[in-house]
Amino acid sequence: MSEPSAAPYGAAAPLVALRGASYAYEDGPTVLSGLDFDVVEGRAVALLGRNGSGKTTLMRLLSGGLRPRTGTLGVEGVPVTYDRKGLTRLRTTVQLVVQDPDDQLFAASVAQDVSFGPLNLGLSDGDVRSRVAEALAALDIAELADRPTHLLSYGQRKRTAIAGAVAMRPRVLILDEPTAGLDPDGQERLLATLGRLRDTGTTVLMATHDVDLALRWADDAALLTPEGVRTGPVAATLARRDLLARAGLGLPWGIAVAELLRAQGLLTGTDEEPRTPDELAALAARAVPGA
Ligand SMILES: Nc1ncnc2c1ncn2[C@@H]1O[C@H](COP(=O)(O)OP(=O)(O)OP(=O)(O)O)[C@@H](O)[C@H]1O
Ligand SMILES: [Mg+2]
Repeated sequence: MSEPSAAPYGAAAPLVALRGASYAYEDGPTVLSGLDFDVVEGRAVALLGRNGSGKTTLMRLLSGGLRPRTGTLGVEGVPVTYDRKGLTRLRTTVQLVVQDPDDQLFAASVAQDVSFGPLNLGLSDGDVRSRVAEALAALDIAELADRPTHLLSYGQRKRTAIAGAVAMRPRVLILDEPTAGLDPDGQERLLATLGRLRDTGTTVLMATHDVDLALRWADDAALLTPEGVRTGPVAATLARRDLLARAGLGLPWGIAVAELLRAQGLLTGTDEEPRTPDELAALAARAVPGA
């Protein structure tokens, strides 16, 4: 992509963008090289790729925890500066929830932990209180406010960590494998919570290894392959066997079923692939009336 250096993000700049970003850990191999990645406002994106492909690294670059060795991170076309002011500005735009809640939680109680970010923004006590209440309600954990964090269950700790990010009212919420370790009901509740955040205007980027979850939850899929990141509409991208193989992934259940139904003439070209068992049941009822 060649753009003039004076306006590196073009006229309609994405909300957050990495341009030509490379990263290598101390004494480690280069993880990402010359990577372009856009976070487009309002899109829900699933980030997929093999273990060690660089998903966590990419998320840490997008949220400012790591600084690209080459290339730039921009917010609405303005390059991020990695000083205190620049990073504070970035953190009110982008919040990362790391995979292991124990790497994120440190305060004695849930409410104290969730209030840490807003307090650091220098908000008034009243504003901090209302943000904490809003975040706990959004994550459905208001009743845990005074509980010691170290006594919480894993799922409760995960929700508390996400509440801490939500309390910053970020425009972009980045979650590293947020459903890993949750039971099925916990996963559904989390997806519902993320759905509500999306409905109220938060852009969500989630790393996951679950192609079925990606298909039914995301607008777009971003696949990290050795050649770089490939982003596109989720159903079309996760139907690309070549890309899936490069990213170490299998075909999502819904896409496999749709291929079968198309081969049998039970699904027409314009029909959407089923993404859940309920959608498959609805399709079947249409295809075979009275069945
Ligand atoms: N702190 C670190 N120091 C050195 N190397 C690291 C560090 N963190 C990650 N790496 C290496 O960087 C590469 C990318 O790791 P990263 O955690 O970004 O991958 P990932 O896609 O998130 O993998 P996973 O699916 O297992 O979470 C790996 O080869 C990993 O060993
Ligand atoms: Mg990771």
